[in-house]
Amino acid sequence: MAGKLEGLVCVVTGAGQGMGRESAREMARQGGKVVVADINDVTSQETVALIAEEGGIAISIRVDLRDSASIKALMDRTADAFGGIDVVHANAAVHETELTPNTSIEELDEAIWDVVNDINLKAVWLCTKYAVPYLKQSKAPAIVNVASTGAHVAYPMAAAYCATKGGVQMLTKTSATDLAKFGIRVNCYCPASIRTPMLTNYLSAAEDKEAVEATLRGAHLLPRLGEPEEVAKLAVFLACSESSFINGASYLIDGGALAWRGLNG
Ligand SMILES: NC(=O)c1ccc[n+]([C@@H]2O[C@H](COP(=O)([O-])OP(=O)(O)OC[C@H]3O[C@@H](n4cnc5c(N)ncnc54)[C@H](O)[C@@H]3O)[C@@H](O)[C@H]2O)c1
Repeated sequence: MAGKLEGLVCVVTGAGQGMGRESAREMARQGGKVVVADINDVTSQETVALIAEEGGIAISIRVDLRDSASIKALMDRTADAFGGIDVVHANAAVHETELTPNTSIEELDEAIWDVVNDINLKAVWLCTKYAVPYLKQSKAPAIVNVASTGAHVAYPMAAAYCATKGGVQMLTKTSATDLAKFGIRVNCYCPASIRTPMLTNYLSAAEDKEAVEATLRGAHLLPRLGEPEEVAKLAVFLACSESSFINGASYLIDGGALAWRGLNG
């Protein structure tokens, strides 16, 4: 049986670990030819190997999302390797807690703000910009961006991160508006707390890691963390023709976190 992304070329940024890795794997299971685009060559190769073990098709292309030329090269090299681009999944991001202990509004360094903004927001735009010439040639073009529940509600130690994620939501709508005439759909989703290295890093920056983890878990109506494999299913849905009339949309994938103001004990 043909997969949902059969034969489609899918570029996944940040596919070296976490949700990007699982989305890349699920896209490959669905017949996609996957480009694992990450700054980390070692973890990228691991993702490629995992996909190959399951009989999928994947290559890795190193990208530094802070560098415009590197992003353009990613798209050009993808098209050289696979003959075009059908899906861009702009998944990669960083959190300021990975970069500095001084995360409060008044202490945050300007340079950290710039890094978070460059990778989380500007690079999402640049991925779109440099993929569009190829997406215009595709019969099933789609862009799937990743925002966060932090685009809707604030939380501590995340001023730059949440601001960029709010930006990604709006950029998704403006991109969808500009690109609809080419049949290119642009959507995003907003996860709450998902079990990935980013979440582990965030927890290690907290004074009481266990208490913060319990709070994050308890904030979900489904009182557990989300799994990257669950998010990967949504990424595939938004990338494939099953979502053919969905455009400029933002999906919560948050275990019900934003549906209430309670805390499971
Ligand atoms: N984990 C969560 O709880 C959570 C919640 C909401 C939203 N998100 C979002 O989901 C997406 C995936 O998050 P994750 O938790 O899997 O992240 P992660 O930190 O586990 O993985 C991020 C990947 O991005 C790569 N990356 C970082 N900087 C890069 C750069 N300059 N160039 C290229 N690649 C770079 C890293 O090498 C890594 O492989 C992100 O957009 C994140 O903001 C995560």
